[in-house]
Amino acid sequence: MTDATPPHKRRVRYAGTHPRQFEEKYKELDPTHHAAEVDKVMQRGQTPAGMHRSICVDEILAILKPVPGETGVDLTLGFGGHMLAMLPLVQPGGRMFGMDVDPIELPRTTARLRAAGFGEEALTVHRANFSELLTLLPQAGGGFDFALADLGVSSCVTRHRLRDLLTDNSDEPFAQPLAAALQGQFLETTVQLADLVRATMELAYKRSMPAEERLAETKKVLQRTFQALRIEVNDEFGVLDTMLLNLPACLKPGGRVAILSFHSGEDRRVKKCFQTGERNGTFSSVAADPIRASFEEQRSNPRSTSAKLRWAVRALH
Ligand SMILES: C[S@@+](CC[C@H](N)C(=O)[O-])C[C@H]1O[C@@H](n2cnc3c(N)ncnc32)[C@H](O)[C@@H]1O
Repeated sequence: MTDATPPHKRRVRYAGTHPRQFEEKYKELDPTHHAAEVDKVMQRGQTPAGMHRSICVDEILAILKPVPGETGVDLTLGFGGHMLAMLPLVQPGGRMFGMDVDPIELPRTTARLRAAGFGEEALTVHRANFSELLTLLPQAGGGFDFALADLGVSSCVTRHRLRDLLTDNSDEPFAQPLAAALQGQFLETTVQLADLVRATMELAYKRSMPAEERLAETKKVLQRTFQALRIEVNDEFGVLDTMLLNLPACLKPGGRVAILSFHSGEDRRVKKCFQTGERNGTFSSVAADPIRASFEEQRSNPRSTSAKLRWAVRALH
């Protein structure tokens, strides 16, 4: 063996015939070597581990209409899917900015986009909260021709992130097993979340623990989990409100913005901001109704079912 040969890495071991946990899905996590497996997962309407499937890409391009020479910003870069669709359209001569708060995915996404041929002159990436959008203005020449925000939770959200928010927001002693159970789940209702927490806790308790104690402890765990998530959500509403407030000042006259949201609390804020902007003349036109993912997309990617896409155009004055 020469020094250049990478050391042999054993595949992850798992119980049973199929991998269940995120880390065990080694084929899905390595699409370069297991493309057929990844295709099969997508054909089943699922999202392969470690991957994020961008939603409403065609609809977003139809709204933003990027053209060569323009400057755009993707406020939630994520896996870089939307960015990769927009980048070639502003070339030659254009420039894109990407923002994201995720310290783990951001370097990986940046590396993928650089490897796809987009250097520093075409793409600038910032690890920052989109509430700080105004700080990009000097570099962007004073304003953007278009802006995108995809408020969906990345399917790559890590177990560590979930554990940290359960620990930081509510001192949850069972943060570790709960984060392992919640990771990668797409829960649409609080009832589904509560069921998952209860099932996880039943596995976490010692067999000898009496039933009444289990019930009482699970009740506390449920309260703490909901508290941790509520704090996170409130915080997200706060930064969304700040971003929406700053948005008009960041768009050039005639600039376009598209925002993809996945639950009613976010969509209400976006709708209110756009409608207020239209009334006071900041926006010349806004979406009357949200655009939904096509039937085909909803079938092939169930995450798109709850997506609502709204747009607005900055007034010319
Ligand atoms: C659904 S993903 C975006 C996927 C992306 N559009 C794509 O096509 O791959 C949402 C991303 O928004 C990021 N995010 C969430 N809140 C943010 C905030 N306040 N500021 C910046 N990024 C944020 C998350 O870290 C996550 O990577």
